[in-house]
Amino acid sequence: MSRLIRELRTSAPSDEIITAEGWVRTKRDSKTVCFIEVNDGSCLKGLQVVADKERFDGELLGSVTTGCSVACSGHLVASQGASQEVELSAETIQVIGKADDTYPLQKKRHTLEYLREIAHLRPRTNTIGAVARVRSTMAYAVHRFFQENGFYYVNTPLITASDCEGAGQMFQVTTLDLDNVPKGENGKVDYSKDFFGKKANLTVSGQLEGETYATALRNIYTFGPTFRAEDSNTKRHLAEFWMIEPEMSFCTLEGDMKIAEDFLKYIFRYTLEHCSEDMNFFSAFVEPGISDTIRHVVDSPFVHMTYTDAIKELEKNKDRFDYKPFWGCDIQTEHERFLSEEICKCPVIVTDYPKEIKSFYMKLNEDGKTVRAMDVLVPRLGEIIGGSEREYRLDILTRRMKDLGLKEEDYWWYLDLRRYGTVPHAGFGLGFERAVQYVTGMQNIRDVIPYPRAVNQAEF
Ligand code: 4AD
Ligand code: MG
Repeated sequence: MSRLIRELRTSAPSDEIITAEGWVRTKRDSKTVCFIEVNDGSCLKGLQVVADKERFDGELLGSVTTGCSVACSGHLVASQGASQEVELSAETIQVIGKADDTYPLQKKRHTLEYLREIAHLRPRTNTIGAVARVRSTMAYAVHRFFQENGFYYVNTPLITASDCEGAGQMFQVTTLDLDNVPKGENGKVDYSKDFFGKKANLTVSGQLEGETYATALRNIYTFGPTFRAEDSNTKRHLAEFWMIEPEMSFCTLEGDMKIAEDFLKYIFRYTLEHCSEDMNFFSAFVEPGISDTIRHVVDSPFVHMTYTDAIKELEKNKDRFDYKPFWGCDIQTEHERFLSEEICKCPVIVTDYPKEIKSFYMKLNEDGKTVRAMDVLVPRLGEIIGGSEREYRLDILTRRMKDLGLKEEDYWWYLDLRRYGTVPHAGFGLGFERAVQYVTGMQNIRDVIPYPRAVNQAEF
């Protein structure tokens, strides 16, 4: 394998003949030489290749255009230019694949909206390339954190017959002929004829299955795709997103919040340390000072606040909101942002929400009204993590399910965890794209996943 441009750019000048491969970002001519910026995506900046016009055929140099792929050989010399230490003094240039002037990424700034229309080419831009590298590094940091802390990685199913969040935003999976659906005598669809013999959906969360492994291996985490038929066209919702869900046995809400905070700080710090060039780029061109902001988050404790106190703060400022806050209301994005941006000026963990607005599996508090839930809210985005201590008492859990109209027989295996050796346990879910959005400062979640899926958007 030949060397990455990332390595070449930091190598010392030498007489050794080396080859740089990549795609041409720009070409600039002076009277005697031609400057070609070759980038292979291994890092933000490319390598400057200098071709002496006397040495090269004019036709060959003419075929070196923005977007074409090349292999250039020569030796590294100290650069005269200020923006790089070394450059490649070319002896041979081979154009591997041409790109004519219909190549959509000509040297001018493109809007992120336009780039979404050419999502197959956009990783060749500085911004989307940097996002892709940061995303990869963050994914690695996620695994490192859990593997270093005694967690096992579990793969939960993507196709499921249970609705974890009970929010009914599921995509149905079927092999039935939709033009000729088999019906039972009652006129309803006969799912016994469907592929799984029952109604099935894409998962909205791996939590329930994750709990089964946590109550066997103690600490586990999942990291995989989840699907929600969210009808909301926002900058922070996707129909297909990646979620990280740790689950810990012998753990209460306090331990859950501690792990959530340590985990976020770990992946943020890891990214700052391993993606400094890309982070400097985001700080300069995407969200001013984002590196410093993230550094500050890593170094300061998160604020804690109960839902009841959060509502008091919001009510004091109710004129500022479109949706008026009151005890019992679902906290809206505008409220979440206000709490983290203006009240706390840092990430805040809100706990003990009314049971009516949270899922059935959350542990009921002694007051009978609130549950041991926690959401981590951050400036710019609002909710980044949602989690809770789980209801581990069989009688209370089944009563709660009954109140919500959930059928016990659909959750027989989940209830078995409470029947056999039940223990306090807790966990949370981090939306991976929200985390990438937070670290990079990117405004729209559709720009931090390679191929976003949302309402009316499934191209590529
Ligand atoms: O708060 P949520 O719905 O929690 C759960 O799914 C729990 N089962 C987690 C657990 O306790 N194991 O989702 C968790 C996180 C949110 O905080 C948010 O970051 C992200 O998932 N999320 C989305 N991200 C992008 N697009 C969407 N449509 C999202 N919905 C949730
Ligand atoms: Mg949530």
